[in-house]
Amino acid sequence: RSSAFAQLTESNITDLRALLSAPTSLMSTLDGSASEDDLRPFNDDWMNKYHGKGQVVVKPKTVEEVSKVMKYCWDKGIAVVPQGGNTGLVGGSTPIHDELILNLSNLNSIRSFDTVSGTLTVDAGAILETVDNELASHGHIFPLDLGAKGSCQIGGNVATNAGGLRLLRYGSLHGSVLGLEVVLPDGTIWDGLGGGLRKDNTGFDMKQLFIGSEGTIGIITGITILTPKRPSAMNVAVFSLPSYEAVQKVYTETKSHLGEILSAFEFFDKQAYDLVRRHQKEGGEADRKVFETEGEFYVLVETGGSKQEHDEEKLQGLLENLMENDLILDGVLAQDTTQYHSLWKLRELIPESAGKSGSVYKYDLSVPVPKMYSLVEKMRARLSESGLFKEEGGGRIREIVGYGHIGDGNLHINICADKYDAEIEKVIEPYVYEIVAAERGSISAEHGLGVMKAPYIGYSKDQTSIDLMRRVKQMFDPKGILNPYKFIL
Ligand code: FAD
Ligand code: MLT
Ligand code: ZN
Repeated sequence: RSSAFAQLTESNITDLRALLSAPTSLMSTLDGSASEDDLRPFNDDWMNKYHGKGQVVVKPKTVEEVSKVMKYCWDKGIAVVPQGGNTGLVGGSTPIHDELILNLSNLNSIRSFDTVSGTLTVDAGAILETVDNELASHGHIFPLDLGAKGSCQIGGNVATNAGGLRLLRYGSLHGSVLGLEVVLPDGTIWDGLGGGLRKDNTGFDMKQLFIGSEGTIGIITGITILTPKRPSAMNVAVFSLPSYEAVQKVYTETKSHLGEILSAFEFFDKQAYDLVRRHQKEGGEADRKVFETEGEFYVLVETGGSKQEHDEEKLQGLLENLMENDLILDGVLAQDTTQYHSLWKLRELIPESAGKSGSVYKYDLSVPVPKMYSLVEKMRARLSESGLFKEEGGGRIREIVGYGHIGDGNLHINICADKYDAEIEKVIEPYVYEIVAAERGSISAEHGLGVMKAPYIGYSKDQTSIDLMRRVKQMFDPKGILNPYKFIL
């Protein structure tokens, strides 16, 4: 723990309480208003890998309250961790020591929606799924979708620059976010919402610095984002394939066959598929066959267009073409909404199923598509050689699964162990980052650096880039009170 930060006392709690409109907006073990168990969901991360020792959770109800709390912490030198839905996967959203947890969940209104331009302005703490449901009632869609949509917040999505399942179609948040409102570390409110303009070339585009800044330079309180029209026809197909070579060929074929209606192209290996099926069965789901012929790999293809019959025809044509050319072993096309969702589950349930299999070491890598799967094979070889992983089972590593967003060149490797410990971590890291660096890839395609990858940024960025980032951090937060020990060390 850095001695630069003040140790919170009961008198700080009294002061902070006075800044908030509702007594329930502050919970603390210091004044007995909460127990350690009450604070556990805010101190433990989604993977149960990182455990903070925060004694105070503040949940402001207005932007002004966020500003007052930050000004107080700035003046007193109190370290703060901004927290959204706490679904981040790199230990960024929980304290490392006793940082004050500033949770945005009470700031959750939709401020405005312009039906003509599709421009939405929303509070940072609004839940992604809630916002998307609201947009659906206007015939629009949020340009980001991910497995944690039921809990993650728009502010958290922007702070991590989340990629998700449809980046292929809607692009990154760096393109769709039009403006941000941010409370700076000293409490200043920066209104960068800017009237939702699509075009504005007056100086540096400051909002871009906050997108993906992981809570280290400001608290995002409001977001203006461009939302596209919701496709009126959505369809999905899942194919089983014999090899990773075939996955790449199917990707190329799919792009030329489906053109502008392609909205997602995801892949997962046999091990990931088996894991999800096993957990579905353990969860009591009926054990029905999905494919006549199962494969070494699977791809999920989603279309989003405006004419159901037209899209179905295209998807059916693609399926036939792939079968004729022996690129796939089998394929299932969703026949109705229920099947649409159950096919998506085969992909979306991978993180949750991995979590049920043990303590998961998660890697989130960008490498050229042809190289992607070789990284999973290298990890399997390394962990087998170390004796930690046994193909036949019985090793400390229970599963090694590969999946991800092929269309974005983003591979996920999940290594499920009996528990998190230094012996296992030493075998995996920094080796996994070395093999990524050898391909000039990125050690974080979408989950961010957090605490997990902060020491390893040098595998993806040169010293000049790191120095520039340190100067940005220093400029916004010279006292270093926002999300310390993470991101840029
Ligand atoms: P948190 O986890 O609370 O915070 C994440 C980081 O942002 C922390 O550093 C925190 O300090 C900071 N932060 C949060 N809110 C704010 C704010 N208002 N202002 C400033 N900083 C803030 N990610 C992907 O990119 N693609 C995926 O497909 C994907 N799928 C996922 C599926 C599952 C099942 C899970 C559990 C996670 C997944 N993620 C994915 C991880 C992803 O980072 C988060 O789900 C999401 O973007 C984080 O939002 P959150 O509100 O939970 O943020
Ligand atoms: C995903 O693509 O499912 C997410 O990034 C989450 C994960 O990999 O755990
Ligand atoms: Zn992902």
